Amino acid sequence: MTGHGAPFAAILLAWYDRAAADLPWRTPPGAASPDPARAYAVWLSEIMLQQTQVETVKPYFLRFVAACPTVESLAATPLDGVLQLWEGLGYYSRARNLHRAAQIIASEMGGQFPETVEGLRALPGVGRYSAGAIASIAYGTPAPVLDGNVIRVFARVTDLPEDVTAASTQAALWKLAEDWLPQARPGDYNQALMEL
Ligand code: ADE
Repeated sequence: MTGHGAPFAAILLAWYDRAAADLPWRTPPGAASPDPARAYAVWLSEIMLQQTQVETVKPYFLRFVAACPTVESLAATPLDGVLQLWEGLGYYSRARNLHRAAQIIASEMGGQFPETVEGLRALPGVGRYSAGAIASIAYGTPAPVLDGNVIRVFARVTDLPEDVTAASTQAALWKLAEDWLPQARPGDYNQALMEL
C-alpha cells in the first residue's frame, strides 16, 4: 500500500465497521478469521452478484444454498435442477459455469476449493474480479478487485482520466486497486469498496 492508500483504507474500514449491510453470505466485519469452508458460499454469492443487484440476489442465494448446501451437492444436482434454482436471475451461462466448476472441484480437486487467485481464475465463470473477491473474502488473501462500483469510488478520490474504459486506464486502475489494498482485512476492505 502506497500514497493515499493507508488513510483511505482506515477511513473505509471504519465506515464498514459501522455500516456494513447484514448479508446472508457475509460474516460480520472483522469477525471470524477467513474460513476456507466459507469459500462455497462466497463463490456462489459472487457469481450471482456479477450481473445482479444485492437485493435481488438475497432470496436466490438462500434458496440455492438450502437446495445445494455444499459444492458436492451442487455437482450432483442435474443441470436442469440448477437452472431451475437460477430461474429469473438471468445470464444463465453463470449457472452452467457454476455447475461445471462444481463438477471439476468435486471430481478433480477432491471437493477442495482452489485457494489461490490463479486456481480460482481457472474455474469456469471466474474472472479477475471474482477471483480477487473470493480469495480476499474467503481466505484473507490480499488480492484486489475492480468493477464499475470500485471504479466510481476511485474516480471520486483521484484524478482519473476521462475514458476509464481505455486499456491503459484499466491497467492503471488495477494498479491503484493493488497499491491501496491493505494487508490487514483485505476481504472487508474489498467488500466495503463494493458496497460504498
Ligand atoms: N457486489 C459484488 N460482490 C459483493 C459483495 N461481496 N458485497 C456487496 N456487494 C457486492
